[in-house]
Amino acid sequence: MNSYKFKLYDIILSLAEAIDLISPELNSHHQRVAYLSYRIAEQIGMPIKERREILLQGLLHDIGALSPDERISLLDEESEHMNRHAFRGAKLLSQCPPLAPLSDGIRYHHIPWNNGLGREYDGQPVPLASNILHLADRVSVYLHFSQNILPEISEMISKFHGDQKFSPILVKALDGLAKKEYIWLEMSDSEPLTFLPESAVILTDLDIDGVLSIAKIFSYVIDYRSRFTATHSAGVAHIAEMLASFAGMSGEECKMMLVAGYLHDLGKLAVKNAILEKPGKLNVREFSVIRGHTFYTYRLLNKIHGFSAINQWASFHHERLNGEGYPFHLKGEQIPLGSRIMTIADIFNAITEHRPYRKGMEKQDIINVFKELTEKGELCTHVVDILLDNLDLFIKLCYETQRKASEEYKSFFLPDDKDYVNAV
Ligand SMILES: [Fe+2]
Ligand SMILES: [Fe+2]
Ligand SMILES: [Fe+2]
Repeated sequence: MNSYKFKLYDIILSLAEAIDLISPELNSHHQRVAYLSYRIAEQIGMPIKERREILLQGLLHDIGALSPDERISLLDEESEHMNRHAFRGAKLLSQCPPLAPLSDGIRYHHIPWNNGLGREYDGQPVPLASNILHLADRVSVYLHFSQNILPEISEMISKFHGDQKFSPILVKALDGLAKKEYIWLEMSDSEPLTFLPESAVILTDLDIDGVLSIAKIFSYVIDYRSRFTATHSAGVAHIAEMLASFAGMSGEECKMMLVAGYLHDLGKLAVKNAILEKPGKLNVREFSVIRGHTFYTYRLLNKIHGFSAINQWASFHHERLNGEGYPFHLKGEQIPLGSRIMTIADIFNAITEHRPYRKGMEKQDIINVFKELTEKGELCTHVVDILLDNLDLFIKLCYETQRKASEEYKSFFLPDDKDYVNAV
């Protein structure tokens, strides 16, 4: 059996870019905050190990801001409710062993310094990393990256002097950075992290189980932004995994299929909720926006070394054997078995699971849908046969996965997250 190794940094970098797709106004925000946090940490002499960690924290710091409205509100002045996305983000990361060490720094990244009172919050110590992320985040929000930011720097930093929300030692570090034009020019780039030395990058390898735990929490980021999709990725992932196992894939390949299922709609982060949640039929324009989502899934996963198979299985789920799919218009043999499985898992889950606005299809209707699509030459008959020969089992799995995913959804949100809690 092949055993794959993956780079933690690759995965985080690509997923950070995915989170930024939710709101183009915050383009490259995660990379910029990661970059400046690293530079501040360097300026105050933090050891390299901690600098590497802060870089990852910067890349994921707003992971808990799930809805587009909440993401836009991150550009506003800070208020008490800002902590909600930080606490949620920490909760998300704490459920994932490879990312759990990052959660404390992220939990407190909006706690004000308040002349040192902010060293603690609710009886818990606030790490220095949180103070750094906080300052880097606010600097990043104040600057106008669409233009040359050098003329803005000294005025921007003067605003932070005397502001009790930030530690004076860190603001002083900004003074040190202010003199170095390259810092701000690098930060303005759409990929600022490419300018950091190789030593800044954490070299941790992950096995497939580590990747799986990250993919699972990312399925929450993809699904939880809209109550209509709250259980979709988990459903597709588990159905695809069972199809893969019945089709004779190895244990490790089945786990890769789960990863691909969790991430298959990653590119939907680029699609506005108004389209995702539209109750009626989409018009031509809206549907053409949807047709882009797997292109973005492909582009994001393509940056992860060793992800080639997972990427194809995830990103080709709207391709059709007769070439009538989208967006790559692949045909027949160009579409690997794993992608054919994902397509069928996606369709099956979409028509079978219950949605807030409609019940799932009955057994005979499901059979009819697959017969029709197979006759049109769209789907792989081999995989459709596996599904239909074991249909009761797959329907049971679909309901069971949806029930579990729905419980996870409800238990994930904090008591004051009313908009989310009542959703499914
Ligand atoms: Fe934040
Ligand atoms: Fe932020
Ligand atoms: Fe899709």
